Amino acid sequence: MSRIVSVNDAAIAEAAEILKSGGLVGMPTETVYGLAGNARDGAAVAKIYEAKGRPSFNPLIVHVGSARDAAEIAEMDDLAMSVATAFWPGPLTLVLPRKSTSGISELATAGLDTVAVRVPNHKAARALIEAAGVPVVAPSANKSGSLSPTTPEHVADGLGDAVDMILAAGACAVGLESTVLDLSAGVPVVLRPGAITAEDISHVLDMDVGYARENGEPDAPKAPGMLLKHYAPDTPVRLNAVDLEAGEALLAFGSIKFMGIKGGGAAGDLPDTQIRNLSESGDLHEAAANLFAMMKQLDNPAHTKIAVMNIPETGLGIAINDRLRRAAEAG
Ligand code: TXA
Ligand code: MG
Repeated sequence: MSRIVSVNDAAIAEAAEILKSGGLVGMPTETVYGLAGNARDGAAVAKIYEAKGRPSFNPLIVHVGSARDAAEIAEMDDLAMSVATAFWPGPLTLVLPRKSTSGISELATAGLDTVAVRVPNHKAARALIEAAGVPVVAPSANKSGSLSPTTPEHVADGLGDAVDMILAAGACAVGLESTVLDLSAGVPVVLRPGAITAEDISHVLDMDVGYARENGEPDAPKAPGMLLKHYAPDTPVRLNAVDLEAGEALLAFGSIKFMGIKGGGAAGDLPDTQIRNLSESGDLHEAAANLFAMMKQLDNPAHTKIAVMNIPETGLGIAINDRLRRAAEAG
């Protein structure tokens, strides 16, 4: 059973240590309880996806203490600064161009060149982020497909041992996930409705702000997952490779001892630029944490294709394969 601990200074300090050492904390926010991990620690981010049982990697929201901290991670233009000044701290998430120096795990942003950031308005969340001293990713602390948790007991019931400690601060004031506002494409668009409405934002920006909608359905907000662009390399991706063609790069998983190159040679002799191993020991957490960064490293016009070895369709492997299949189809 997971540990539920009432918020006080000692509990915050302990939770911060858990985050710094790669563990997961149930974090109260004003919207819903989040499943918090260090945004710069790919293995911690992989644990979050595993705990949620997400069949695919949706990008996560990075929680920070201030607009200034957000600007370390994302490009904050004038529009972003205006809404940040008006609504932060609060239940608003901004999707912005990601800074190359952000240090955020590629898995947390699912390989996209944008990042979602939010400054929560909850004493415990703010204290935890400050004490940990790192940006914190926190999706709602529920299994994928079930309701978002608004009490510490919901978190414990849904996630059990997958969370190292739950900071308990009673029921969430808002009870609904934050509004997600996309500012990355010039025109502000609400991707996910929440307590702060398009109209509220429109007043502050003095410009029209709409909701992203299904084609032809004027009033149906688009499901956030459906709005997502998916990361795909420019180089074609070939799945379940058992050997290599000359000119292909190899994205390996596990041992490459028996991987040969057609026409002669062994994968082990490929130049360093042409091969990456998601996890030599076959560890799915490690593989998930490396996935997007390594795909990018192999995405090079010098390679005819990126050949990917078979990944088992179990646990995190399901989400890894989901992303790999999308990458292969896009090519
Ligand atoms: O209120 C909240 O936002 C809660 C609390 C814990 O802060 N968190 C939350 O996170 O709801 P999550 O992971 O369940 O929802 C993140 C949403 C998803 O709809 C995701 O598609 C969207 O944000 N999102 C994240 N990064 C994105 C990006 N780069 N582009 C577009 N959408 C993004
Ligand atoms: Mg959620």
